[in-house]
Amino acid sequence: MLKQALTAALLFYSTTTLNAEMPIQKSTTGNSVPYREVCRNASLDDAVFQNFRSIKAYFDAVECGQGGEFAHYIKTHATSKTLSLIPEFRKLDLYGNPITNNIPGFGLFSGTTLRYILVADHISRLFNLPKNYTVAEIGAGFGGQACILSQLLPFSRYYIYDLPEVEMLIDKMVSTFSVNNVTCLNAYGELPVDSVDLFISNYALTECDRETQLDYFNRVVVKAKRGYILYNDTNLFEHLTLADFVVLFQEHGIHPTIHPEPVFSYTGNVLITWDRTNS
Ligand SMILES: C[S@@+](CC[C@H](N)C(=O)[O-])C[C@H]1O[C@@H](n2cnc3c(N)ncnc32)[C@H](O)[C@@H]1O
Repeated sequence: MLKQALTAALLFYSTTTLNAEMPIQKSTTGNSVPYREVCRNASLDDAVFQNFRSIKAYFDAVECGQGGEFAHYIKTHATSKTLSLIPEFRKLDLYGNPITNNIPGFGLFSGTTLRYILVADHISRLFNLPKNYTVAEIGAGFGGQACILSQLLPFSRYYIYDLPEVEMLIDKMVSTFSVNNVTCLNAYGELPVDSVDLFISNYALTECDRETQLDYFNRVVVKAKRGYILYNDTNLFEHLTLADFVVLFQEHGIHPTIHPEPVFSYTGNVLITWDRTNS
C-alpha cells in the first residue's frame, strides 16, 4: 500500500512537471474523469480492485460485450496451442469481477478476455516473432493483452504507455498476475531501447488527438519492426484519418496492410498491421 501511494505521488509529480512543458494529451478515455478515478481507486484500494471491471465508468471505457463472436472466431481460426491454453487464459477473469457469460465449449468468460485471446492468437499467426521478443503498447487498459500474450507467446520485455492512474492499475494487475517483465513508461518519455519487435495499440492510439497521435508515432511507432493497430474512428478530437495514417507510414518507409476488423465492432474500424522484417 505504501509502495503504491509512493508510486502514485511520483507519477503525479512527474506528469504535472512534464505537462507544464509538453502538449496536454487528449483522448476519449483520457478526458473521462470517472474512468481515471476508477483506475486510481482500484490501484490503491483492494476492495475496488476486486470489482473495477464491473464499475460502469470502467466498463464503458474498456470492456466489451458478450464475447460469443470472439469465441466463434477463436474456435474457427486459432492454433491448437491457443485452444489448449483456454483454461489458463480464464484466470484473467479472476480479477476485477468482470461480467462473464457462459460460452458454449469455452465456459465462463468475459468478452474482453476473449478479445485479448483473439488478438494474441492473431499476432502469433501473423508474425514470426523471435524468441525473447520485445513489445511496446500504447493504451493498454488494465494490461490484459500483456497478461494473455505472456501465456501464449512469452516476451522478454513489454513497455506500456498509458495515463498515470491507468499505469498504477496496470502495475497492480501485472504483479497480481505474476507477469514481471512489464514496464510502464511516462506518457511523454522516450522508449529506453532503439527498436521493439512488436507494437500494439488497440482502440487507443486512434482515440487520441492528432498532436498526441503524431507525437507517439514519431517517438514509438516508427521504432517497431512489426505492428498491430485496431483502428477505430469514434474520436471526438481532431485526429488522423485512416488515409492520414497510411500516408504517414509510407513517409517512414513502412507499408501497412489494412484488414477488416477480425470481428466487426463498428463501422469504419479496421486492423492495420506491418512487418518490416518481410521486406
Ligand atoms: C478503449 S481503451 C482500450 C484498452 C485496450 N487497448 C483494449 O483493447 O482493451 C483506450 C486505452 O487508451 C488509454 N489512453 C487514453 N489516453 C491515452 C494517452 N494519452 N496515452 C496512452 N494511452 C492512453 C486508456 O487509458 C485506455 O487504456
